Amino acid sequence: MKRNSDKNSPRLRGEAGWSAGAISLALVAALFASSTSGNTSDDRSSAAQGDLMKAIVYHEYGTPDVLKLEDIEKPTPGDDQILVRVRAASVNPLDWHFMRGTPYLMRLMAGLRKPKDTRLGVDFAGTVEAVGKNVKQFKPGDDVFGGRTGSLAEYVVVREDRAVVLKPAGVTFEQAACVPIAAITALQGLRDKGKIQPGQKVLINGASGGVGTFAVQIAKSFGAHVTGVCSTRNLDMVRSIGADQVVDYTKEDFTRSAQRYDVILDNVGNRS
Ligand SMILES: NC(=O)c1ccc[n+]([C@@H]2O[C@H](COP(=O)([O-])OP(=O)(O)OC[C@H]3O[C@@H](n4cnc5c(N)ncnc54)[C@H](OP(=O)(O)O)[C@@H]3O)[C@@H](O)[C@H]2O)c1
Repeated sequence: MKRNSDKNSPRLRGEAGWSAGAISLALVAALFASSTSGNTSDDRSSAAQGDLMKAIVYHEYGTPDVLKLEDIEKPTPGDDQILVRVRAASVNPLDWHFMRGTPYLMRLMAGLRKPKDTRLGVDFAGTVEAVGKNVKQFKPGDDVFGGRTGSLAEYVVVREDRAVVLKPAGVTFEQAACVPIAAITALQGLRDKGKIQPGQKVLINGASGGVGTFAVQIAKSFGAHVTGVCSTRNLDMVRSIGADQVVDYTKEDFTRSAQRYDVILDNVGNRS
């Protein structure tokens, strides 16, 4: 399971001091979730009457004690959907935002007073159990991973053309379930926004976190010279995943050094 260390993240401490960056990240996260969603109405309408499954649900915003393990209707795949038995799911800051209902702006989409969609979680890995009649890319027994709202459950249904792909055989369900949101965030930041190029000097602030660990490896795969910023206890780990240089933020402020970078991916947002 991916470590959910929100309590360590300055962006996520308290609710009063939301930066514009944190709000936009949460909105991006909400949009990502809605793009991986769509299971609110269609899944319920297609749920087989009487078949139940266990799921983590929440009926109000708040602290983790709002999370309940309940029996809910097990979904049935529509013609273009696959039914996946979830073998592993991971938790992201995104899920924390939905649970808390913060920043409050996101409630415009998620539900003003209480969550419209009571299901939680997005990242999953599992095994295809059934497919709709139009599905061509997957068959029962295939191991897959992807993103779909409501992944903290025994089953999810996903349209075959949405965020789901075959799981490589050498990757465990737990490893695969940690990939989708965090790795896509890192990839979009470095490749799509940062236009990363071979040989560039790239700095990853928050290199030891969910997004940062993918960012270090993705930047290396693009042929960049990578500097990772993290705390003392994570220096060796960040080196071990490929960082050429590491900066211990408890001892050094990277913005004060003479070193210049072509691309900075800032997962922390604590330096001007
Ligand atoms: N995870 C996702 O899929 C995702 C998607 C979209 C947006 N986001 C946003 O991206 C941000 C990071 O998410 P994450 O999942 O990577 O969080 P995370 O796993 O909690 O990682 C936080 C990172 O920040 C570092 N850090 C903490 N305090 C620091 C400081 N004072 N100076 C420099 N670095 C510091 C931590 O280093 P140490 O652990 O070594 O202290 C760690 O590398 C969050 O704001 C989140 O909302 C995340």
